[in-house]
Amino acid sequence: MRAFYRSTMLCLMVVALAGCFGPKTVREFADKNKLHYGVSVQAADVLDPAAIALITENFNILVPENTMKWGIIRPNRTFWNWSDMDNMVAFAKKNKMIMKGHTFVWHQQNAPFVNALKTREDAIAVLEEQISVVMTRYKGKIAEYDVANEVLEEDGSMRKTIWLKTIGDDYLDIAFKAARKADPKAKLILNDFNNENMGNPKADAFYELVKSLMQRNVPIDGVGFQMHLMGMYPVQEEDVRANVARFRELGLTVSFSEIDVRVKLPMTPEREEEQIAAYTKLMEIVQTEPNVDSFIMWGYTDKMSWIPQVFPGFGFAHLYDWDVKPKPVYEAIKKMIVEP
Ligand code: G3I
Repeated sequence: MRAFYRSTMLCLMVVALAGCFGPKTVREFADKNKLHYGVSVQAADVLDPAAIALITENFNILVPENTMKWGIIRPNRTFWNWSDMDNMVAFAKKNKMIMKGHTFVWHQQNAPFVNALKTREDAIAVLEEQISVVMTRYKGKIAEYDVANEVLEEDGSMRKTIWLKTIGDDYLDIAFKAARKADPKAKLILNDFNNENMGNPKADAFYELVKSLMQRNVPIDGVGFQMHLMGMYPVQEEDVRANVARFRELGLTVSFSEIDVRVKLPMTPEREEEQIAAYTKLMEIVQTEPNVDSFIMWGYTDKMSWIPQVFPGFGFAHLYDWDVKPKPVYEAIKKMIVEP
């Protein structure tokens, strides 16, 4: 009887200890399951106690939504605006989060002096300087970067950006090589939208572009599928998985890098179900495809969403509502992380 009592007590203690030390928050479950589960944040998010609590309890990877873009971090050629980015990087380090950088080569949110570049030499000098200065400052602190973003048009041709116009066809080679040189350990990513479904002209052109970069020994480690989706169109699972597989064959990871699922207003129970189905399908793919390494969302609350401004008549795209309260889609994703 005594032995029975002792072993029962021992079992209870083991269970209690496991309860004390085991994961409790969504973020701890994500850590345990080696899931990179993240979100883009605004500069103020890492200063506001309520946002800080929400972020640290949920996510283990952070991306600056706007803070690292040229127009903000370097509004003119000689002035560097470091404070917000420094804060964010320090916040990630303090909370043992992975920090992702976003982005060097893009056609939006450039500083006026970038859009005014004229010659190939000058454009290369400015681009290489940007990459080298930022990546050296955050060496060992920012683990991965969207080196380039949205370089393709919808028909699969190269987007006519300031970089293409001034530097020419090899601007991606130059950017990725500068990035590797500045921080050889950082993971280098080419990111885009509407590139997730194999068979879509842009997705196929994106794949061919990446393959050609690799054939020329341009250092690239992964690709990003942004995944700004609409709830009314179900995730094309087969096409996404087939696309992921061809990048796996190239030895590259895929990051679902800017997930949100917008809904046509007004929200209805049916539309909410469609949204939940899209979010959970993406999570299922991340959890089952070995080279899909990140589930990163573009913002966490409808209150601060980029969507209504860009897509009038659409909204409700994120996990938290206007009052920053978790929605049913939050609970659905949480369940998949806690009980994978
Ligand atoms: O900072 C100014 C502020 O001073 C001014 O008063 C205000 C007036 O409109 O504008 C503020 O700038 C806004 C900026 O976000 C910061 O909030 C810009 O107008 C606004 O256009 C800008 O939008 C961002 C957008 O990129 C720019 O195209 C969104 O927040 C950001 O979520 C979005 O992110 C992109 C990714 O980088 C790449 N993939 C697509 C994604 C969604 O468009």
